[in-house]
Amino acid sequence: MASETPNVDKVAQALKQVAEDGEKFMTGDQAARERLVASARELVLAAETPVETVLWNIWAVPTRTVASRIAVDLKIFETAVKNGGCPKSSEDLAAATGASPTLVKRISRACVSMGMLDEQRPDVYVPNDVTRLLAIKEYAAGITFSFDITQLSFAKMPAYLRSTNFQNPEDSTDGPFQYANNCPSAFSWLVQHPDVFEAFHDYVHTLRLHRPAWTDMYPVRSKLIKGLKPDGDASVFVDIGGGTGQILQDFRSDVPQYTGRLILQEIPEVVAAATEKGVGADGRIELQVHDFFTPQPIKGARAYFMRSVLHDWPDEQCRKILAQLKDVMEPGYSKILISDCVISDQNAAWQHISMDLYMMAQLSSRERTEREWRELIDSCGLDIVGIYNKGDGNEGLIEVVRSV
Ligand SMILES: C[S@@+](CC[C@H](N)C(=O)[O-])C[C@H]1O[C@@H](n2cnc3c(N)ncnc32)[C@H](O)[C@@H]1O
Repeated sequence: MASETPNVDKVAQALKQVAEDGEKFMTGDQAARERLVASARELVLAAETPVETVLWNIWAVPTRTVASRIAVDLKIFETAVKNGGCPKSSEDLAAATGASPTLVKRISRACVSMGMLDEQRPDVYVPNDVTRLLAIKEYAAGITFSFDITQLSFAKMPAYLRSTNFQNPEDSTDGPFQYANNCPSAFSWLVQHPDVFEAFHDYVHTLRLHRPAWTDMYPVRSKLIKGLKPDGDASVFVDIGGGTGQILQDFRSDVPQYTGRLILQEIPEVVAAATEKGVGADGRIELQVHDFFTPQPIKGARAYFMRSVLHDWPDEQCRKILAQLKDVMEPGYSKILISDCVISDQNAAWQHISMDLYMMAQLSSRERTEREWRELIDSCGLDIVGIYNKGDGNEGLIEVVRSV
């Protein structure tokens, strides 16, 4: 039988690490904050008994996910911050939706246990910083999207994998998503659920504001601006599968020195959504309907940028997308810039591991290690000339060229 008491040496070691990281953070080393969070998690794991670790993962984690999704529907966060965030009972919180106060109380206390709300006295709640964040539509959208698109696939994924004798999902047309949902793909599901698609674009953009920008890791000036041909297709920075245009809008304001054309390529529904948001209104950003599996219309562009695009697809489809770019790249000038996770070979960041399983469930795709990226790019006859990263668990930037 497994030991029921935690290993004292491990606890002592983890405590020492927390103290060291905490000291560095409190004396102004901001980079130590992430290490402090990681070492504090290690301390919890060291101090828990094995049974507690298991129960946390099988009881706490799934119930938290569902409670936070229900809390969004119940408008608990946005109601909690109203009237200056004054204390509110479950009856007060329930008044926003006409829900049962008993139900609201059960979900509210789950929110308290998740750090999403504070309980000032029994059944009286006040907002904290997380509540205030989740009261903003774009942040709550992360909960809505992450839950709505994945939960059926997650629920059925074990049965799906049993049915395939546990093969790694590699077919984007026949995987866990199709097994669980009566729909050909997650993208068509999103097109059929425009509110969830909007939640997706809102939240990915908003969350990324809190992570290092790709332009902070990649030397834009020396790699893109120096030597930029001023006119025509050669001047273009094209954002392929660029969502509703936030990436290009950020690029435009962060790097005003880039004077070439900026083009957003997307499927028709997303181009329509970008147009509605006014993205192309002043003509600086050009909107173009383009299916990235078909020939790329912009020849010899300065940069073909793709963020969170290739992680959506198994290797076979990635090769098809990249082949369309290879065909039109000008050797020695054009670059493909891939903004995606680069998973560590060992002790991968929890963000990368989670995203990898999300990708498996939704798209039969994956996050990739550096070796997997190199194998994929090499198999297309292209070369990786740089991998840029900032901080653990974020997206990196992979620079790819065509040599001949
Ligand atoms: C994960 S999202 C990434 C969006 C954006 N690059 C970002 O990082 O916020 C993938 C995008 O690829 C687009 N997409 C899917 N299939 C496509 C296709 N065949 N051609 C062009 N875009 C496509 C989707 O509409 C979606 O906006």
